[in-house]
Amino acid sequence: MTRTPVSPVNVTVTGAAGQIGYALLFRIASGQLLGADVPVRLRLLEITPALKAAEGTAMELDDCAFPLLQGIDITDDPNVAFDGANVALLVGARPRTKGMERGDLLEANGGIFKPQGKAINDNAADDIKVLVVGNPANTNALIARSAAPDVPAERFTAMTRLDHNRALTQLAKKTGSSVADIKKLTIWGNHSATQYPDIFHAEVAGKNAAQVVNDEQWLADEFIPTVAKRGAAIIEARGASSAASAANAAIDHVHTWVNGTPEGDWTSMGIPSDGSYGVPEGIISSFPVTTKDGKYEIVQGLEINEFSRTRIDASVKELTDERDAVRGLGLV
Ligand code: NAD
Ligand code: LMR
Repeated sequence: MTRTPVSPVNVTVTGAAGQIGYALLFRIASGQLLGADVPVRLRLLEITPALKAAEGTAMELDDCAFPLLQGIDITDDPNVAFDGANVALLVGARPRTKGMERGDLLEANGGIFKPQGKAINDNAADDIKVLVVGNPANTNALIARSAAPDVPAERFTAMTRLDHNRALTQLAKKTGSSVADIKKLTIWGNHSATQYPDIFHAEVAGKNAAQVVNDEQWLADEFIPTVAKRGAAIIEARGASSAASAANAAIDHVHTWVNGTPEGDWTSMGIPSDGSYGVPEGIISSFPVTTKDGKYEIVQGLEINEFSRTRIDASVKELTDERDAVRGLGLV
């Protein structure tokens, strides 16, 4: 019996020679991003000085003999990297360095995400799905989206799945449950210290999580700051920002987007707001979403209490400030 060959899905990864790239590429090539029966072709985008390191990673990928991996291209040209791309993981970004103001950081990242957005616009496949991981992820996604007017806006997303996963584990520990028992948790807002992990609609083994916890002080003084400042705590402990957990969350984000959320659950994604829950239209903010057939929808109709409203508004304010800053720089 002969099998019809399935054409590979083109997956572009920027910052491929970085630490997240190293934790990510092998999992994509092994089928964990899209499925164990989906062949992939990797396109690695790096800056010129890091091309040799990317080649080293590609040699290791070859040495794994992954049956699903149909080829690897390495380039420093965004037009080549995004040619025919079906999935783009924008990981490479300019980190904040000493003495750099927030405006400098946004401007430096504009220099990366604007041309990459344009290259996606001009070269990617019609079904392109973009996940921005590089920080500040939400606003970098906004910059890329603005440079890609021909791509439907909803294809540009930012990663808050790591925050979601962090919140799952903190809540599981507090309630003595398993992460698998927790459903309907939400991260709202920015992937930053202002984000709001919301357990008021979450369930622990079918019971309302806020009622199971029944401890608003823990919520305000421990849970929320632990989740929101976890990135900084990892940097402090490891001497480098999260890499394997960030790569894992990127895999989760795309896998869920493509393959759907389980019945009775949802996930968190940074997506262009449609104005739901009073979040200004157009900014890339995290929402509770369900996914099906490669599309996502914001979960509607959730009652937002005063505790949540204040915190969602604070994170959204930070996002509109960032939008105004990049607008002032002519980036959106
Ligand atoms: P890293 O410094 O190890 O790697 C970044 C790579 O990007 C480097 O190899 C660099 O050469 C490359 N790069 C820089 N500019 C580029 C460009 N224009 N085109 C292509 N490649 C380029 O960093 P990392 O630890 O892999 O982290 C990457 C980003 O992810 C950082 O911005 C980090 O803050 C962010 N991050 C986000 C989350 C999240 O939850 N959203 C979590 C962890 C880290
Ligand atoms: C994280 O949440 O781990 C990262 O976004 C932290 C960082 O600043 O890179």
